[in-house]
Amino acid sequence: MKPESKFKRHLITSALPYANGPLHIGHLAGVYIPADIYTRYLRLKKKDVIHICGSDEHGVPITLKAREQGTTPQQIVDKYHLLNKESFEKLGIPFDIYSRTSSAIHHETSSEFFKNLHNKGVFTEKTIYQYYDEEAGQFLSDRYITGTCPHCNSENAYGDQCESCGTSLNQNDLINPRSAITNSAPVRKKTKHWFLPLDKYEKFLKAWILEENKHWKSNVYGQCKSWLDQGLQPRAVSRDLSWGVPIPVEGAKGKVMYVWFDAPIGYISATRELTAEWEKYWKNKETRLVHFIGKDNIVFHCIIFPVMLKAEGSYILPENVPANEFLNLEGNKISTSRNWAVWLHEYLEEFPGKEDVLRYVLCANMPETKDNDFTWKDFQSRNNNELVAILGNFVNRALVLTHKYFNGKVPERKDLNDYDMYILSELPQLKNKVEHNLEQFRFREALKEAMNMARLGNKYLADTEPWIIIKTDTARVETILNISLQIVASLSALIEPFIPFSAAKLKASLNIEKIAWEDIGKTTFLPSGHTINKPELLFEKIEDNEIKKQLDKLMKNSKTQEEQGTDVEPLKENISYEDFAKVDIRTGTVLKAEKVAKTKKLVKLTVDTGIDKRTVVAGIAEYFEPSNIEGKKVCILVNLSPRKIRGIESQGMILMAENPQGKLVFVSPEGEIQNGSVVK
Ligand code: 2FM
Ligand code: ZN
Repeated sequence: MKPESKFKRHLITSALPYANGPLHIGHLAGVYIPADIYTRYLRLKKKDVIHICGSDEHGVPITLKAREQGTTPQQIVDKYHLLNKESFEKLGIPFDIYSRTSSAIHHETSSEFFKNLHNKGVFTEKTIYQYYDEEAGQFLSDRYITGTCPHCNSENAYGDQCESCGTSLNQNDLINPRSAITNSAPVRKKTKHWFLPLDKYEKFLKAWILEENKHWKSNVYGQCKSWLDQGLQPRAVSRDLSWGVPIPVEGAKGKVMYVWFDAPIGYISATRELTAEWEKYWKNKETRLVHFIGKDNIVFHCIIFPVMLKAEGSYILPENVPANEFLNLEGNKISTSRNWAVWLHEYLEEFPGKEDVLRYVLCANMPETKDNDFTWKDFQSRNNNELVAILGNFVNRALVLTHKYFNGKVPERKDLNDYDMYILSELPQLKNKVEHNLEQFRFREALKEAMNMARLGNKYLADTEPWIIIKTDTARVETILNISLQIVASLSALIEPFIPFSAAKLKASLNIEKIAWEDIGKTTFLPSGHTINKPELLFEKIEDNEIKKQLDKLMKNSKTQEEQGTDVEPLKENISYEDFAKVDIRTGTVLKAEKVAKTKKLVKLTVDTGIDKRTVVAGIAEYFEPSNIEGKKVCILVNLSPRKIRGIESQGMILMAENPQGKLVFVSPEGEIQNGSVVK
């Protein structure tokens, strides 16, 4: 790993959000807040940095939404592109460019890229059978086909995945396939596609990721390793669809690029749109490329896009891909379709002037190494107990006392005692800690250290009590307030990456311009005699009723589900005791739990059933971090016929309860009982 300082410039990309819906807090905590913090930090260090983003406007879900709403895909993406662009700006995330993949420049850039690879003979072409809807007159891509899952018998599995058990599927695996467009039974028809032969790049990827990129975050490295360990297959990069970038070679009429082929090229098109010097950012080894993404995008940014770049030959590869895990909301997975989310545009309207509160809370709870939870109670308590009580309180006391005792003029610093010296020596140390954590993409820890500077200031004031000694020793108070104001000045730069609106207010109150990162901890910004302004209120308490309002709103949204009749499962028909007695449920303990590679939901568990130790595959990965369930007491159905799920024989079923939002909890024995005890 080359240290950051060895690079001449930084190219930061944030995953292009799909323009088929508004942004929510999960997007922010996963991708955009860390990317913005990092970019702001580099800028404060006076680095050459650009931050690229834009709307991902292709893909099947956008066409489905347009069809549903009786409109065109272009109208859908126009609406959300604008909404999302504005929301980012209001939250203080000023990308250097917020472009879009339906633009002419993107179509041109991705076409050139495709042609280039085609001319180099990179793709393989294959004619395959795919489902075709004769009534609609079109081929059906994976999301347009539903059918019965061969693994769990759920009737609503898609052509690429069963959302119920999480298994990845092929179109041809589905039992009783139906077209999502006309509900007719599709026929199988020949069609030609272009494939990116990922398998041919395994050697390169293994050396590049597993050897050269050992410094990547462990969640990212681990996911890549598991993909590589399983072996890669060629991936189709064309689709039979009319919405997207047309495949620019002969014999491809009616075909467009797979959305995940053109979307990452969107970073390049956006840079081209931004600057004529775009090649300097993309084709020069002195540029450091960092992709900020969520964990569901890892394979595309660490495997597929790098293969595309490598095959093209003239581009640099990412130096880091600091992907985050997912943020849940009030204990449940954020769900767009169930309206279980905190939407950014609504937050901005309902909490005017509190952009920084959301930024702060999302950074403090960032799902850096494991999924994390956002709760409105925590939002309130972080605001009231941290932003108001620590940061706001310190700054306010320092500024108000300066106005009260010295007419708003920075007093002189006289003789320093040991305690003053200690406080001053802590400032550069804290700056270094923030810096060190930011360099490692540890944003939560960085924020904590930044807040420690405010804590230090508070402690200094509480220990020195200038409001008491003002009666006896004005000279001492001058020194104390001078030091306090220097801390406030340092803070105004240190907190800027995290809470930029408050940083700007602080600078305005201190009547100072920008402070560079390297100057944090120095104590010379505010010469004695410098006049400061009246303090602006940085944060205010959030009352219980505001939190209740948000919780009620969230619950009301989930009520809609109730109205839709999905609140409680309907009662099943009666069975005899004999039927029930056939079921053999035992208490057990989870010994080991590990994620099944290439699936979203599956976890492989080793369970001590008291009878034996056996393997069970469960669709619970979205709710539980595997390492957190090791040691858990469970109830397990032990006489279920074994079945193979993703090549693993599952020997039983763990009992779980599922609520209307799809949240899962374990059904566990309450008291102490040995494994193998019968549940009846
Ligand atoms: O997961 C998503 O939201 C995708 N739209 C991210 C695309 S990132 C890049 F490749 F454009
Ligand atoms: Zn299934």
